[in-house]
Amino acid sequence: MKVLVIGGSGLLGTKLREVFEKNNYDVYASFHDNVVTGKNCFQMDITQKDDVFRVIKKVSPDVVVHTAAYTNVDGCEKNRRQAFDVNVNGTENVASAVEKIGATLIYISTDYVFDGEKGFYKEDDLANPVNYYGLTKLEGEEVVKKICSNFAIARASVLYGSNKINFVTWIIDQLEKGEQINIVTDQYVSPTLNIDLAEQLMCLIEEKSRGIFHTAGGERISRYDLTIVVADVFSLDKDLINPIKMEDFNWLAKRPIDSSLNVSKISEIKKPYIVKEAVKLLQEDIGR
Ligand SMILES: NC(=O)c1ccc[n+]([C@@H]2O[C@H](COP(=O)([O-])OP(=O)(O)OC[C@H]3O[C@@H](n4cnc5c(N)ncnc54)[C@H](OP(=O)(O)O)[C@@H]3O)[C@@H](O)[C@H]2O)c1
Repeated sequence: MKVLVIGGSGLLGTKLREVFEKNNYDVYASFHDNVVTGKNCFQMDITQKDDVFRVIKKVSPDVVVHTAAYTNVDGCEKNRRQAFDVNVNGTENVASAVEKIGATLIYISTDYVFDGEKGFYKEDDLANPVNYYGLTKLEGEEVVKKICSNFAIARASVLYGSNKINFVTWIIDQLEKGEQINIVTDQYVSPTLNIDLAEQLMCLIEEKSRGIFHTAGGERISRYDLTIVVADVFSLDKDLINPIKMEDFNWLAKRPIDSSLNVSKISEIKKPYIVKEAVKLLQEDIGR
């Protein structure tokens, strides 16, 4: 199996490369600003159509996992043109090139395509993003559906793991330093460990699954309760965690209240980890 990971320098892409290599896939990876060294790694800007076509034709993979995105939610709100260019036009370039060589595309999407009014979303629930990031990721899904004959759309939620700073590693760092942290009690998500997502994506590839999948962690939980689990597993001081409400936060982009995902469909192929199991896996992964 020859696989190209676009966004191989990201939080997910880094782990995907590791998991694919462990499973003896022939792995190629692209990065943009953060150089990844090693065999089969190269620079590529997905907004440059000719580049994307040239590289995908040259590598000629069986499967392309498209993880690259402009992922800063407030940044997308502010820099709308750039967000659209990367998340929509870039995805269109990737999808068209993948279709041209007859490969399969796995597009990584997000729980932020939903408005968060209902929670525990199923794959066929109505998408209705409340911020520009979510809108561009949903447009990316539409582009993939329109262009590709063979595709899977994999929606994740609050990604965390080793290799790059994220919500969970930030919590660990702050609590280890003895810093107070303010965490919202009224925002619900399905936190997704990058190892868990990488394993779920590998199962989708192995099973040649097509369509939309909610590939997230196995539990709906508030950010506050997630923080308590992290403090428990890493034996950190819970008194440093201050409960606050979403309304106390001054985000530029609006956030969904409950964007948790129903993972029944993916569970038939690969059961996601529950929160405590996943956080323990992270602990093993980062060796603390
Ligand atoms: N993070 C989350 O909480 C979360 C939740 C749900 C879904 N998702 C989705 O999951 C996917 C992976 O997220 P992540 O957290 O791993 O992202 P990330 O760590 O921010 O990495 C983004 C990747 O995209 C690459 N990239 C950015 N602009 C590019 C461009 N113009 N051309 C080529 N590559 C470009 C980056 O390359 P450089 O670093 O080399 O510049 C990096 O490899 C994304 O599609 C995201 O929308 C993320």
